[in-house]
Amino acid sequence: MGERFRYDENRFLSEGPLAWPEPPGDVEAFHRTLPGFAETRLVALPDLARALGVGALWVKDESTRCGLNAFKVLGASYAIHRLLETVRPARPPTFATATDGNHGRAVAWAARRLGHPAVIFVPRNTVKARIEALRSEGAEVVVVDGTYDDTVRRAAADAARHGWQVISDTAYPGYTEIPGWIVEGYTTLFAESARQMGGAPTHVFLQAGVGGLAAAGTVFYRREGSRPTLVSVEPLDADCLRESIASPDGGIREAKGRQDSIMAGLNCGTPSLLAWPVIRAGVRAFLAVDDDYAREAMRRYAAASVVSGESGAAGLAGLLAIAGEPGLAAARRSLGLGADARVLLISTEGATDPANWRAVVGRSP
Ligand SMILES: Cc1ncc(COP(=O)(O)O)c(C=O)c1O
Repeated sequence: MGERFRYDENRFLSEGPLAWPEPPGDVEAFHRTLPGFAETRLVALPDLARALGVGALWVKDESTRCGLNAFKVLGASYAIHRLLETVRPARPPTFATATDGNHGRAVAWAARRLGHPAVIFVPRNTVKARIEALRSEGAEVVVVDGTYDDTVRRAAADAARHGWQVISDTAYPGYTEIPGWIVEGYTTLFAESARQMGGAPTHVFLQAGVGGLAAAGTVFYRREGSRPTLVSVEPLDADCLRESIASPDGGIREAKGRQDSIMAGLNCGTPSLLAWPVIRAGVRAFLAVDDDYAREAMRRYAAASVVSGESGAAGLAGLLAIAGEPGLAAARRSLGLGADARVLLISTEGATDPANWRAVVGRSP
């Protein structure tokens, strides 16, 4: 049997305030102006909690967010709103971004709503259903013969050449403001879940690609002051946050894997330059799991009537590994994942690859 997980705890946690700006207005109030916007549901999972030996377990189901099957529109819509407030362009610029699917769909959706063209770049291993979802939002789709990281570089280069405005969820040298607004946009889902739970979780599992969602969770709970234990979950194949925290200086490192996990939204080789310092200050543990854990998590969610895609189920994949792997027993104790734990998971997408969901779960989504 191959390697099933890697795990590292954070030696660089810091209690001090985060260097993170307060937004000028109410982010949730902005989201409520979006067409089709509604709070997503929070589902209690008592049977699964019992099976996994934790006190209580909830999942925030993002599959219905604005009809886009993923949480990402919270970030893209808010960032575009902030950009247009700041820049006020004479003519609507074309928006461009790299994506594994969900962020690009969100950018295309927000662009179309406001009358902007969108050009969306995807890596070569993007499945047809996700490309079609992008086209269905009116976007031009460019398939790049490379990884997600190659796609980020290509989107930036083509945008510079054509004068397009990049709306990227990952930050890199010289490009940090918009990814910051995207992270701020994601905080809405944590605010909703806090109200829905009627009390703070003790643990939150945050699946990570470039780290935008994990940064948003860190920012939200620091502001709120409840400080749950945050655990990041990545594919074994694309564990750039874990590589970074395990490095001697805790600086940004690239993943060593091939970045071809079925957890497509998490197939990122480099942490976001902006998210990383926040995550390093506030995320306690970094777990990477193989694809079998994602498949098992999809089936467990389906049994509880939650349709969750490969990346969507990754938080539960991490919890399954921590609960079941003998090699993670010390981690379970160190993180306090026992009878007193009140654990929050985020199912960040629905079945964005319906054919694979069917193959894994054995019925239609
Ligand atoms: C479904 C899903 N979950 C989680 C993530 C991770 O978000 P981030 O790249 O901000 O870490 C993504 C990113 O595309 C995603 O599509």
